[in-house]
Amino acid sequence: MKKFNIAVIPGDGIGPEVIDEGIKVLNKAAEMDTSFQFSFTYFPWGCEFYLKNGKMMDPDAIQQLQEFDAIYLGAIGFPGVPDHISLRDLLLNIRKNFDQYVNLRPVKLLKGAPSPLISIANENIDMLFIRENSEGEYAGEGNWLYKGKSHEVVLQNSVFSRKGTERIIRMAFETAKKEGRSLTSISKANALNYSMVFWDEIFEEVKSEYPEVETSSLLVDAAAMLMVKDPKRFEVVVTSNLFGDILTDLGAAIAGGIGLAAGANINPERKYPSMFEPVHGSAPDIAGKDISNPLASIWSASQMLDFFGYKKYAQAAIDAIETLLLEGQILTPDMNGTSSTSEVGDRIVSIMERMISHSY
Ligand code: NAD
Ligand code: IPM
Ligand code: MN
Repeated sequence: MKKFNIAVIPGDGIGPEVIDEGIKVLNKAAEMDTSFQFSFTYFPWGCEFYLKNGKMMDPDAIQQLQEFDAIYLGAIGFPGVPDHISLRDLLLNIRKNFDQYVNLRPVKLLKGAPSPLISIANENIDMLFIRENSEGEYAGEGNWLYKGKSHEVVLQNSVFSRKGTERIIRMAFETAKKEGRSLTSISKANALNYSMVFWDEIFEEVKSEYPEVETSSLLVDAAAMLMVKDPKRFEVVVTSNLFGDILTDLGAAIAGGIGLAAGANINPERKYPSMFEPVHGSAPDIAGKDISNPLASIWSASQMLDFFGYKKYAQAAIDAIETLLLEGQILTPDMNGTSSTSEVGDRIVSIMERMISHSY
């Protein structure tokens, strides 16, 4: 029996609520298959921990996490702790230290999901965003000069290394090739005359090695417009850290809402643990009301099952989400339903159980 040790960081706001439901899905998969099981170890890190201890995580958090097969995270950030401290010290710190340089974010419209674009898209929204996740605009370097003076200047540097840029673009080409889908690179070389010129050059270089992959290159402003106007044209998409952050919230909006958007932070070499988390944040406005949508967190759990090689259960979780959306009965208020977070999670596992035992 294979045992996967998972570090769970429920985090802040709605994080713990949605994580509970994803864990139900992981446990259901393990319960239905005698070949593997999960063991979960919880870490109380986040904003409350910070207010008590002056730190977002234990000082040796990275060493502690290194021992696990994966990390499952809810959300971080809460009023009372500045966002640039809470997010940089915890979430971005883990992504960076574990070289989780691939951020995989599916933007896939399931049947029954509410999309404002349903008539344009003809239900055909199926993108895979591959966001650079280790450097770029998130490098965290800069300078704050002449603070408080009238000639105050702030510099926020981006870092695009050849290694970092090439590996994410190559990963995107490999994915597009394997899936037989087109690849779109999104950049902004008309204004960003170093970083994005470099990005585009590397994209062209790597492209010459993949003649079988159909490609296009778009400027990020036009890409945002086209994601709404003609979402079908996007299949595999590769872009920088910041552009990927922004465009995947847009992607969430057109593919059923932020409550459905999932993400995986992958270290492809598997030297370090990968981390699975919803795209959304801690949603302080609805925290503690038991109305947060757990589907994004459940979809991230499906990405974890897929990462471990259990495609059957990963797909069962997605199919269960689709069935739930088509039934339209048990949904949280963000999807115009009246159900609670845990009612949605319970329904998902019962659909999964039925699917796995009958039709798979
Ligand atoms: P948010 O994603 O938390 O919320 C945006 C809006 O979407 C809110 O109206 C919220 O109620 C709604 N929403 C989000 N997730 C939902 C869900 N599962 N079900 C129903 N509604 C949902 O973004 P924000 O308000 O910009 O940020 C809040 C905090 O979260 C900030 O501290 C921010 O830095 C942090 N944040 C953390 C992460 C992360 O941990 N991965 C991601 C994004 C934002
Ligand atoms: C995300 C989040 C994070 C990011 C924030 C909270 C630092 O918005 O995962 O999309 O920008 O990467
Ligand atoms: Mn984001």
